[in-house]
Amino acid sequence: MTQSIKRSFLSVYWANRWAKFMARGLAVMVILAVSCSQVPLGQDTAALTKVAQASELTVFRSPTCGCCSKWADHMKAFGFQVKDMVTEDMTAVEQQYGVPNQLRSCHTAIANGYVIEGHIPALDVARLLTEKPNIAGIAVPGMPMGSPGMEAGDYIEPYSVFTFTQTGETAIFSEHS
Ligand code: CU
Ligand code: CU
Repeated sequence: MTQSIKRSFLSVYWANRWAKFMARGLAVMVILAVSCSQVPLGQDTAALTKVAQASELTVFRSPTCGCCSKWADHMKAFGFQVKDMVTEDMTAVEQQYGVPNQLRSCHTAIANGYVIEGHIPALDVARLLTEKPNIAGIAVPGMPMGSPGMEAGDYIEPYSVFTFTQTGETAIFSEHS
């Protein structure tokens, strides 16, 4: 008798603990979902989509690059008019457009005179073309997992989009995680 009371008390205790644990987990997930949102608060996505639709994006990529094509599809899906330029010599393209060595990735794109290097989210490119800062371009160096064109389920390796100037000065443009 006492044994079964003890057992049911224990199961209520653990059910409570479990409920609290789940509630806390849910709260953390909500906070993460809000803070990981790609659209900064107050940013007008509709206006940025319009900018994309009015912009031509020339993408230089090597013929065998799968993630480059996936990135181009991501840009098309956002509204950019993509012009696909296949080349065997990406280093020559990066040199021609002055992409700093430490910021290089697998593809280079040009839009309204700006250099767009690597797996940059479409929203960032639209923001660049809207704000028109006095820089040469923006870049995501390497190929971070979870960036557009490098999708890996829900996993996103934290990465930054950098600005660069003609003289090679760099700064952070946006951060993603
Ligand atoms: Cu890539
Ligand atoms: Cu690429």
